[in-house]
Amino acid sequence: MSRIVYVNGEYLPEEDAKISVFDRGFLMGDGVYEVSSILDGKLVDNAAHIARLERSLSELKMDWPCTKEELLEIQREILRLNNVTEGAVYWQITRGAADRDFVFPKNPKSSLVMFTQAKNIVDVPAAKTGISVITVPDIRWHRRDIKTVQLLASSMAKMAALEAGANDAWQVETGYVTEGSSNNAFIVTQDETIVTRNLSNDILHGITRRVILELAEKENLTVDIRPFTPDEAYGAAEAFITSASSFVMPVVKIDDHKIGTGTPGPIAVKLRKLYIEIARADAA
Ligand code: PDD
Repeated sequence: MSRIVYVNGEYLPEEDAKISVFDRGFLMGDGVYEVSSILDGKLVDNAAHIARLERSLSELKMDWPCTKEELLEIQREILRLNNVTEGAVYWQITRGAADRDFVFPKNPKSSLVMFTQAKNIVDVPAAKTGISVITVPDIRWHRRDIKTVQLLASSMAKMAALEAGANDAWQVETGYVTEGSSNNAFIVTQDETIVTRNLSNDILHGITRRVILELAEKENLTVDIRPFTPDEAYGAAEAFITSASSFVMPVVKIDDHKIGTGTPGPIAVKLRKLYIEIARADAA
């Protein structure tokens, strides 16, 4: 059965959902997006995702196509129409259609597209086994804090990982890990300190990252917010990634190095469990 997709005011079967070939998202990558996860038919950390979208729009001087209240209504309607209880909702705003030009159009009418992806996100085998990552050079632009639809570099990083027999890639710039292809990267040192890179234009300010850091503080875990090198990661006791679609996912191998015992570490496993409990309780 086909999904119902939202496109600029209409709910349509996915095969009938269309946008203009002149849409600047299509021609210039001139668009921003968000992904909120869905648990028990409810949205997880959604207010924070909407707030980050607002910041992305403002950094690119792009207009909202609707009010935030309308956006939330569309999210709820698309979940209802597709009857999704677990998975993700994706929505993107582009500057809209205009004749191709590097100059932003004068009176742009921004475009909103939204769809759901039904999938298991809690009960996934990878959470039990952990995943492997390779390191790759970070070749992305320098405004990674803006969640744009320009995802080719991340897609290439992920493909390099799959071709190397790994699950994902950690991107490296001037000797330090920036983040995963579509997630934030963490290590736990041998003395049980959680290390993750500081916020800047070099990485996406992950919503899950923020919640995990709050959780770590509540649990009295030691956290050190700073960049780390691949070498430091190879010698870590544990490693994990965070994102809306993976929550907390243990990393058990980085390049050719087994991390810890090569199985998900206790801190990663605990944070995943706590995160899912909180996400379920707070989902709305
Ligand atoms: N990706 N870093 C990058 C480059 C990302 O693309 C993402 C999210 C994150 C984690 O952010 P958050 O915790 O807010 O999801 C970090 C989404 C899930 C995606 O592109 O599918």
